[in-house]
Amino acid sequence: MKFKLSVLAAATAMAISPVSQASEVEVLHWWTSGGEAASVQFLKEKLNNEGVGWSDFAVAGGGGESAMTVLKSRAISGNPPTAAQIKGPSIQEWGDLGFLADINDVATDAGWDDLLPGVVSDVMKFEGKYVAAPVNVHRVNWLWANPEVFTKAGATIPTTWDDFMVQAQKLKDAGFVALAHGGQAWQDATVFEAVVLGVGGADYYQKAFVEGDMDALNSATTVEVFETFGQLRQFIDANSPGRDWNVATSMVINGEAGMQIMGDWAKGEFKVAGKNSGTDYVCVAAPGTSGSFTFNVDSFAFFNQSDAGKADAQKAMADAILSVEFQEVFNLNKGSIPARLGMDRAAFDSCAHDSMDAFVASSQTGGLVPSFAHGMAVSEAVSGAIYDTATNYFNSSDSAEEGAKQLVAAIAAAQ
Ligand code: GAL
Repeated sequence: MKFKLSVLAAATAMAISPVSQASEVEVLHWWTSGGEAASVQFLKEKLNNEGVGWSDFAVAGGGGESAMTVLKSRAISGNPPTAAQIKGPSIQEWGDLGFLADINDVATDAGWDDLLPGVVSDVMKFEGKYVAAPVNVHRVNWLWANPEVFTKAGATIPTTWDDFMVQAQKLKDAGFVALAHGGQAWQDATVFEAVVLGVGGADYYQKAFVEGDMDALNSATTVEVFETFGQLRQFIDANSPGRDWNVATSMVINGEAGMQIMGDWAKGEFKVAGKNSGTDYVCVAAPGTSGSFTFNVDSFAFFNQSDAGKADAQKAMADAILSVEFQEVFNLNKGSIPARLGMDRAAFDSCAHDSMDAFVASSQTGGLVPSFAHGMAVSEAVSGAIYDTATNYFNSSDSAEEGAKQLVAAIAAAQ
């Protein structure tokens, strides 16, 4: 009888409030575009099905700069969310400040060390313990193209930067916007990163932009990078300042523009618009980067909780993130590939298959490099220096030599 009563009590409590306050996660993220929102919605639904409530803390702004500013003010005032989209070296910075919760028991039970590539699991740990869960691996060095626009302009999809200039001119002459772009610092940095990799190669990228090696930075290659980057200004339309990245993607989708250089979250927008890869749009590695892969791993880091119910909800979230079902559905919507190894590839399209193959191949050749434009490679101070110089240069008529000089000085001061 006692047992029956307690079951009844539990059932009644569930009927009144399907999810108790204690088993709720408040989650900070910046996924507000069509594809991003569909992805995060799946996580919310999955947790709801498991009896964990979701309090959405979305701060709009591609690349997440605004979200990180809001997160800092919430944390400083002693009220951080349960989990936040934090990536790369920043996870260590938050760990150093003592904010992050150890979710190692969940990770050990589920065998995360065996489920994740080392390049991913290392970043999720602070002092050897898991404090964050990876949702995906994005490849940043992609070029998205509308094949119909190319046909109309008599152009072919470029695979080198020299050819890019030739083909972009054809698109422009035919009355199209050659390169869809949004004039925001992080988007400038994303394109700049693709140019660094394409012009300089993975070794130069690694030395100059990951290790901050002054000899590599002070080389003729850096000037060449700025020359190529500067040439792109002529292929962008006058309305680009302030434009959101997904609006730029929609210009490629609707045939106003021929190309966009953007990470594979852009694929989420094509998907929401009902477009298919290979026919409606084409994905190729950004010019000169086919053997390389700039990786950008999205992850949720967990904040210390004094409430045991919230800590449990947090663990349920971590566990759900590494599940096979979540890793598949989330990444189909997001445009990325699963962080979890050994997943079935059948449901994924050709762009995802290319990305999966390139991830493995580049990890064997040294071509797998962390994205500095997306917080995977360097401290916030150094990435801020790169963002500032790239965006200032792109919006000026400075010479390539001046751009390179400013970049070197800014990185030297920041590191
Ligand atoms: C990246 C993030 C991606 C995508 C993009 C645009 O930094 O890793 O998941 O959302 O910003 O918002």
